[in-house]
Amino acid sequence: MNALARHRYHRAAPVVLVLLLLALITGVAAAVSTASSADAATATTAEDAAEGQKLFAANCASCHGLDATGTDGVAPSLVGVGAAAVDFQVGTGRMPMQSSGPQAIAKRTQFSEEEISQLAAYVASLGAGPAIPTAEQVDPELGDAAKGMELFRTNCAMCHGSVGGGGALTQGKYAPNLWETTPTHIYEAMLTGPQSMPVFNDANITPEGKRDIIAYLKAQDEGSPGGLRLGTIGPVAEGMWGWLVALGLIIASTVWIGARSS
Ligand code: HEC
Ligand code: HEC
Repeated sequence: MNALARHRYHRAAPVVLVLLLLALITGVAAAVSTASSADAATATTAEDAAEGQKLFAANCASCHGLDATGTDGVAPSLVGVGAAAVDFQVGTGRMPMQSSGPQAIAKRTQFSEEEISQLAAYVASLGAGPAIPTAEQVDPELGDAAKGMELFRTNCAMCHGSVGGGGALTQGKYAPNLWETTPTHIYEAMLTGPQSMPVFNDANITPEGKRDIIAYLKAQDEGSPGGLRLGTIGPVAEGMWGWLVALGLIIASTVWIGARSS
C-alpha cells in the first residue's frame, strides 16, 4: 500500500487512473449489454408463446382443449405436432375448423403472419415437433425439377395426379391441386401429413428431394402448355368449350343467314 501511495503524485498517475476507470466502465457496460440482449432473445419467444396461448384459448381450445391435449372424438392432441403443423393448418385456413365434414376445408386464413407464428410458438413449446422450414429449404430456384418429377410420380401422383392437379379419394375426401400452394406449405404438408395424407419424413424423402418436388410443382404453376387452363379441368373440357362456342357461332350465323334470305 505504501509503495502505491508513494506513486500517487507521479506525473502519469492521473492518466493511469483515467485508463483504469475507462476499462472498468466499458467492462461493466459490455457485461450488462450481453446480459440484456440474451434476455431479449429468450423473452421474445417466451412472449410469442404466451401471446399464442391467449389466441389458442380464444380460437382453438373449444375443440383441442385448453391445454391442447385434445378432446375425445372432437379434435386430436397437438402436443408434439410442431410449429410446421400449425403454420400449415392455420396458414392454409384449415384451422380453426368450422364445419364438420370428411375433411377440414382450406379457406382464407383469419390470422396475421404474426399471430400464426405466435400460435406456432405456443404449440411448439408443448413438445418437440417439426419446425417451420427456412426460406432456403423451400426455394424452388435451388431445386431440380426433373428429379422432383420422378419423386412426385412415385410418392404423390397416385393421390394428387401426375402434374399435381388433384383428385378425388374415397369417403368424400379429395387431394387438392397443388399449383397455388406456397413452397413453405408444400414442404410442411410433406413433413406433417395433414388428414389422410401420409407423413414423408426426411428418411422417406430427403430435404433436397422435398425442394426438388417444390421446384417441379412450381414449374407446373408457370403456365399450362396446352393453352387456357379452364379451371384446370384439362383437355377434354377445352375440347368441349371448342364445341360449345364454335358450334354455337356456326348455328347462330346459320340462323342469321336464314333469317336474312327469307
Ligand atoms: C371445430 C373444431 C376445431 C377448432 C376450432 C380447431 N381445430 Fe384444429 N383440428 C380439429 C380436428 C377435428 C382436427 C383433425 C383433422 C383431421 O386430421 O382429420 C384438427 C387438426 C389440427 C392440427 C393437425 C394436427 C396434426 O396431427 O398434424 C393442427 C396443427 C390444429 N388442428 C391446430 C389448430 C389451431 C391452431 C386452431 C385454432 C386456431 C384449431 N386447430 C382450431 C378441430 C378443430
Ligand atoms: C394417400 C394420398 C396422398 C398422397 C400419397 C399424398 N397426398 Fe398430399 N394430400 C392428400 C390429401 C387428402 C390432402 C388434403 C388434406 C387436408 O385437406 O388436410 C393433401 C394435401 C396436400 C397439400 C396441401 C395443399 C393445399 O393447397 O392446401 C400439399 C402441398 C400436398 N398434399 C403435397 C403432397 C406431396 C408433395 C406428396 C408426395 C410427396 C403428397 N402430397 C402425397 C393426399 C395425399
